Amino acid sequence: PPIDECLSLYDFEAVAKSVLPTGAWAYYSSGADDEITMRENRNAYQRIWFRPRILRDVTTIDFSSTILGHKTTIPIYITATALGKLGHPEGEKNLTWAGAEQGVIQMIPTLASCSFDEIVDAAKPGQVQFMQLYVNKDREITRKIVQHAEKRGIKGLFITVDAPQLGRREKDMRQKFADEGSNVQRTQGESVDKTQGAARAISSFIDPGLSWKDIPWFKSITKMPIILKGVQCAEDAVLAAEAGLAGVVLSNHGGRQLDFARSGIEILEEVMRELRKRDLLKNGFEVYIDGGVRRAGDVLKAIAMGATAVGIGRPFLYAYSAYGSEGVSRAIQILKDEMEMNMRLIGAPTLADVTPDMIDTAGLNQR
Ligand code: FNR
Repeated sequence: PPIDECLSLYDFEAVAKSVLPTGAWAYYSSGADDEITMRENRNAYQRIWFRPRILRDVTTIDFSSTILGHKTTIPIYITATALGKLGHPEGEKNLTWAGAEQGVIQMIPTLASCSFDEIVDAAKPGQVQFMQLYVNKDREITRKIVQHAEKRGIKGLFITVDAPQLGRREKDMRQKFADEGSNVQRTQGESVDKTQGAARAISSFIDPGLSWKDIPWFKSITKMPIILKGVQCAEDAVLAAEAGLAGVVLSNHGGRQLDFARSGIEILEEVMRELRKRDLLKNGFEVYIDGGVRRAGDVLKAIAMGATAVGIGRPFLYAYSAYGSEGVSRAIQILKDEMEMNMRLIGAPTLADVTPDMIDTAGLNQR
């Protein structure tokens, strides 16, 4: 269908499903085990309701914001998703181009299909990019990747901490992995096992020995702000803040890792409570969430609860699988249009006006 028939992020998913090869659809759409967490990521948002305010002059709406001090036109970022070329020959560059057009920050995955430099080179001058890191058992390889990223101007290092082993995504495991599109062998010095799906094939280099003891080492090798991606409870968010890190992403990896992990939006409540109680937000520590964000209403719920921004994964993969970078750009534009309308209807002209009393979270923990 023509792109202008896509009216919501769900529409891109439907088109992607019809155009993607079986293996690519299996890798992109799958969650771990029974996919309970993947579904919960959507369900949790549906247990939060708005408490709009009236008569607040909503003629002009402004939802511009910052992430780690960098401007964004909307409080979202394009999160890291591996193997972009399974969906489109230009892979992750589609996200770079759309990010430039829409003023949205992209997080480059360690396991991108395009090379890291290709993705950085695709950016416009001044365009902000972050990097997602899987930590190699061979720390020299990791050191080189991190320091190269910093040299190339990457503005934030997101270390994924929820994947010491990759989850069982059975849809994906039933497919053989052809490896047209990974850079694992080249960048991580590890061979690729092609017998059981894409996820298993590309992940054997990841170090399950990674621990809190490694954090000082990361801080010693880079000046980039360090954020832990995949924090799932208040205790670990507190440890991250106390370790002097720049932030955390409350995430269950899009439901692809531990099944029955809670959704980011549910974790957000306890995390903000503990961080406030211990006065750990004062140094600019930021909290992001991802997983299941499909509507601007979801973004506003997260902002109301204290998140700085939210990450969005699959919808952008689906958008470029269907329409290339134009699809991603349109998906972001749809979110912006929804954002403007929702902020008007809840009575919040700016993001600072999106306060905790504007949502009703009474049902959030009632699964
Ligand atoms: C991911 N995600 C991910 N995360 C990460 O830290 N490194 C990675 O390589 C990948 N790869 C990846 C591939 C695919 C196909 C998906 C769908 C997801 C997780 C991702 O960053 C994010 O946490 C979720 O995608 C957010 O959920 P939604 O927006 O996809 O529902």
